[in-house]
Amino acid sequence: MLLYYFLTFFVLATFCRADSIPIAPAPWNLTVSEAYAFVVAPPPSPAFLPPGFADPLEAPELAPGVILPDSGLIMILRYSASPVDDELIYIPGRWAYNLTDSGLRITRIYVATNASVFNGKDSLSASEHQADFNFTKLADGSQTVTVFPPGDLTNPHFSAKLTPTIGPVPIEVNTALTSDHLTFIQPSIPASPTNPVEVGTTTWKQVLLNIQTETWTATVISGALPGGKIGNGIGYPDIQPLLPIGVSWSGPLIFPAPSIVPNL
Ligand SMILES: *[C@@H]1O[C@H](CO)[C@@H](O)[C@H](O)[C@H]1NC(C)=O
Ligand SMILES: *[C@@H]1O[C@H](CO)[C@@H](O)[C@H](O)[C@H]1NC(C)=O
Ligand SMILES: *[C@@H]1O[C@H](CO)[C@@H](O)[C@H](O)[C@H]1NC(C)=O
Ligand SMILES: *[C@@H]1O[C@H](CO)[C@@H](O)[C@H](O)[C@H]1NC(C)=O
Repeated sequence: MLLYYFLTFFVLATFCRADSIPIAPAPWNLTVSEAYAFVVAPPPSPAFLPPGFADPLEAPELAPGVILPDSGLIMILRYSASPVDDELIYIPGRWAYNLTDSGLRITRIYVATNASVFNGKDSLSASEHQADFNFTKLADGSQTVTVFPPGDLTNPHFSAKLTPTIGPVPIEVNTALTSDHLTFIQPSIPASPTNPVEVGTTTWKQVLLNIQTETWTATVISGALPGGKIGNGIGYPDIQPLLPIGVSWSGPLIFPAPSIVPNL
């Protein structure tokens, strides 16, 4: 066992040097250049989590528990000047832990670089995987966001068209993003047996995100995969948002150092 840990460390250390992955543990004061969030209805229980909700290796850790009848989120984030890069996130909902505690749980998160995979898993026990992102602005002011498995343009995990619109941001979206709602509690996850940047974690982590912005713009989302789908049901769930209107914003996002919570 010790040898195994030693070898893992050695491989990882060598790998990180070879690929010069900057090791950057949270806290992070991030600057969001472009972010989007859409509310999804949570499944009534883990048995109803949609196919593709998590990586098969991580799903057994990420599913169990009690899901509250609250809101889940689809989120797309781009950053400037930060150790984090493009991200696509699926949060099925909020898991309850005891009478006082509950937290959003990220079960899918794609990031553009291996450095973000390593630092994200290490800091938040989150389920980062690397993917290739294509953001394409269209002449009408909208843009498409497509997220592919690394090096494979044939079967995107996710594709959506995002169109800014006038009018108010739906109350459901506003409520889901207020700061006291943005507590995340992430279970520990196993290391990938094949990809050294997909490190495992042994502790549960909790963090309260703080989106510091006052300007929300209502944004329409529509699926851009065949049949109007948003996710392919394998790498990202084939779900539709509760409302086709969400929000876009930019500005500071404070990601404090996560705390360790009891393993549940
Ligand atoms: C990050 O932001 C917080 C809250 O505004 C501030 O207290 C802290 O000093 C900042 N840290 C860095 C490294 O800028
Ligand atoms: C459960 O509740 C207690 C008391 O409020 C708290 O200290 C603890 O951290 C909570 N959460 C977990 C995950 O056990
Ligand atoms: C990320 O790491 C994997 C596995 O080591 C490698 O195959 C891939 O090319 C890397 N991707 C990028 C974008 O650096
Ligand atoms: C991104 O997608 C657009 C629209 O589908 C396409 O024209 C462009 O070639 C793609 N860019 C890359 C780098 O794949």
